[in-house]
Amino acid sequence: MSASIINGKELAHDIRQNMKEEVSQLIINEGVTPHLTVIIVGDNPASKSYVRGKQKASNETGISSDVIEFPSSITEEKLLQVIQELNKDPKVHGILVQLPLPDHIREEHVIVTIDPAKDVDGFHPMNIGRMMTGEDTFFPCTPYGIITMLKSKNIRIEGKHAVIIGRSNIVGKPVGQLLLNENATVTYCHSRTEKLMDHTTRADIIIAAIGQPNVITMDYLKQGAIVIDVGINRLQDGSLTGDVDFDNVKQKASYLTPVPKGVGPMTITMLLKNTIKAAKGLSKQ
Ligand code: GUN
Repeated sequence: MSASIINGKELAHDIRQNMKEEVSQLIINEGVTPHLTVIIVGDNPASKSYVRGKQKASNETGISSDVIEFPSSITEEKLLQVIQELNKDPKVHGILVQLPLPDHIREEHVIVTIDPAKDVDGFHPMNIGRMMTGEDTFFPCTPYGIITMLKSKNIRIEGKHAVIIGRSNIVGKPVGQLLLNENATVTYCHSRTEKLMDHTTRADIIIAAIGQPNVITMDYLKQGAIVIDVGINRLQDGSLTGDVDFDNVKQKASYLTPVPKGVGPMTITMLLKNTIKAAKGLSKQ
């Protein structure tokens, strides 16, 4: 049996169609156009490409957006000043600072400076705390997209054993927390984990967020496992591939996400969702 493929591109398209309607209602009924401001520092080509994707998707959904670009020589002080100004600007509902930042800028200082009410990335410690205590808040976009993909296929999360490979603040840690909030039993694995396969072969759900191309093969999973591939690795020939050896794992998994057209489009969609949520919060004040 071959795995069912969870097509993130199609799901993202369907969700965005509904969002378009939600945005136009917000504009008509409340006179509020959701606005996202993205800040990018330096000229990392991957970051630039992600930011273009975010801006295009925003505009297609009726969300207005702008991108503020700074050279990598910008000081931390200046960047924090710009964020503080955006915090005060009532027209700006969502603020996203694209990561990674140059080494001389402390990421954690940048993240805590963003008003939690405008933190559409869901990275502010206040929002992370709210997520941990099970409150509604802005959830980090990639983890939120993953949960939405699982739910779209009516995959039961409650009581299942989810194994996360990767412990980044952006994906690994928060996806584990969201799965726990859905009553999964969660195991975190990472680069120092011993006998990785002992853990992954007991998983009902595997989240691969490693950052190395095609490393997860069918040997890592039990028959019928659900495999979510968060990797976006560019190969020498310019093509994109995930952390999972797709053709190999497809033969053993029950569900599998592809790369591209998997988690990536869902991440952007959840960013749009958070931006609309931020704009709605403001419209109630
Ligand atoms: N860099 C890679 N992924 C992300 C993300 O989800 N948000 C931000 N701000 N930067 C990123």
